[in-house]
Amino acid sequence: MQIREFRLADYDSVLELWLEAGLLFRPGDRKDEVAKKIKRDPELFLVAERRGKILAAVMGAWDGRRGWIYHLAVTPKAQRRGLGTILVRELERRMSRKGVVKVNAVVYRDNRISRWFFKKVGYQLDERSLLFGKLLHDKDLLEGATTSLNLLNNIGATRPLCGPGRRWVLCSFSWAS
Ligand SMILES: CC(C)(COP(=O)(O)OP(=O)(O)OC[C@H]1O[C@@H](n2cnc3c(N)ncnc32)[C@H](O)[C@@H]1OP(=O)(O)O)[C@@H](O)C(=O)NCCC(=O)NCCS
Repeated sequence: MQIREFRLADYDSVLELWLEAGLLFRPGDRKDEVAKKIKRDPELFLVAERRGKILAAVMGAWDGRRGWIYHLAVTPKAQRRGLGTILVRELERRMSRKGVVKVNAVVYRDNRISRWFFKKVGYQLDERSLLFGKLLHDKDLLEGATTSLNLLNNIGATRPLCGPGRRWVLCSFSWAS
């Protein structure tokens, strides 16, 4: 197993991994957005690869004050074998070298497995905090969703259905068998 930095050429494989692992596609997951992100801190976006296949990935970021963990995903068949822990530990090592003092992980409230996971690897739930967000470029959303859908089609997703959500364009799809 090799842990290495993400390259833009990995994008389709990592997108497939995110979707397989059940992560929601967000505007920041578009290829052009990911390209912007890796210009800032490429050493914090990691993949775990075995025999040319990406089995897990994690997107870390440092804003100068806090380290952040986003989109930790392990392909379903390789879950519960310590891969998520290995990626988080490597990310923590890299953040620590950059001077990060505290790392936060963004987890959906109803993602019980992820909550168990982060607790197990030493993260404490901050009951006092809520996450507020605001999109600065709403108009780009639909265009972004169309691009993403084309991509999903390319990697075998079928019957994509999209409609406007309150703040997001929501899509559902299934995989061709
Ligand atoms: C969350 C996730 C990344 C964990 O990765 P993983 O490689 O399976 O986790 P590990 O094998 O390193 O597990 C470490 C610990 O987390 C906890 N844990 C992980 N999966 C668990 C599960 N299905 N049920 C209960 N506890 C679990 C356990 O305490 C485990 O330690 P143990 O095996 O010694 O009991 C993986 O389940 C995943 O990709 N989930 C879908 C995507 C997702 O929700 N990502 C998080 C977004 S923030």
